[in-house]
Amino acid sequence: MGRFDGKVAIVTGAGRGIGAAHARLLASEGAAVVVNDLGGDMQGAGADATPAQQVVEEITASGGRAVVNGGSVSNWADAEALVAQAVETCGGLDILVNNAGILRDRMSFSMDEADWDTVIDVHLKGHFAPSRFAAAYWRNRFKATNEPVNAKIVNTASESGIYGNAGQANYAAAKAGIASMTIVMARELERLGVRVNAICPTARTRLTENVPGAGEFMAKKDGAPDQFAPENIAAVVAWLASDLSSGVTGQVVKVMGGSLQVLRGWRPATDCTDELEWSLDTVDAAAATLFAGIPAGVPKFMPALGEG
Ligand SMILES: NC(=O)c1ccc[n+]([C@@H]2O[C@H](COP(=O)([O-])OP(=O)(O)OC[C@H]3O[C@@H](n4cnc5c(N)ncnc54)[C@H](O)[C@@H]3O)[C@@H](O)[C@H]2O)c1
Repeated sequence: MGRFDGKVAIVTGAGRGIGAAHARLLASEGAAVVVNDLGGDMQGAGADATPAQQVVEEITASGGRAVVNGGSVSNWADAEALVAQAVETCGGLDILVNNAGILRDRMSFSMDEADWDTVIDVHLKGHFAPSRFAAAYWRNRFKATNEPVNAKIVNTASESGIYGNAGQANYAAAKAGIASMTIVMARELERLGVRVNAICPTARTRLTENVPGAGEFMAKKDGAPDQFAPENIAAVVAWLASDLSSGVTGQVVKVMGGSLQVLRGWRPATDCTDELEWSLDTVDAAAATLFAGIPAGVPKFMPALGEG
């Protein structure tokens, strides 16, 4: 008996890295998995069906069920076809794991239009488009049966989007958007019985192997638990995609080695009120209270650095 027996899952960007680990784990627990991957390079250029095919072959060789989808998550028609493939080929859809991603890091003053557009496209639109068609499918199922559909979306945000890494204006903006979209869609789909959560992962993949310091930090150490393997992330995604996490929705969970954290976003830090319209002078008069206790300069909180 597997935890996902009879379930159908889509995992985007599942030909490599973290997504491949999600697909293998869901399939090993009984899900039929649509393994989506465009198969381009880590900057989003090119296409190659081989990585997705290899993951499907691996899953089927070990007795699981999987099919290839070679579409791009940021293409509206491909996203519609992806959901249709799950429904028509595998008999439905219960789990959508949005994971596909690329990087085009540049400081803002050097970033070109294509760096901006491509990263926003693959991550932000590439999360929304499959979610939109999955949501429409679940809404129809709900209307037909009047029963909660018991489905899940798990999105992939990033610490970069939550805390703001320099050199990643495009990526961080997309990932912060994904965290917000997670809350919006959790609110919209709750009534249908769909839970929507996100993770902020850290794992050893082609995206991180060349980041200075990260390769060594995440390397597998002899005799020690391999907490930066993609499989370490897949366990959390599978938990969020399962009924074990019943009641959890609209949350962002960070997975870093052996640490799990629930991250919370924007909250009022201070509060000033006035009964009149604001003027330059009254804003200035309120500023001492408004910024009381707020350290001067750019917010410095980064998990590795603390409040600073
Ligand atoms: N590795 C980390 O530490 C880390 C940290 C934070 C966030 N993430 C996020 O995790 C996700 C997976 O990253 P990874 O590290 O496994 O990278 P990866 O490069 O190993 O895998 C990403 C996969 O997405 C696929 N892909 C890219 N564009 C696509 C598109 N338009 N349509 C379909 N597939 C597409 C790629 O072909 C690739 O196989 C990404 O969203 C990434 O931003 C990773």
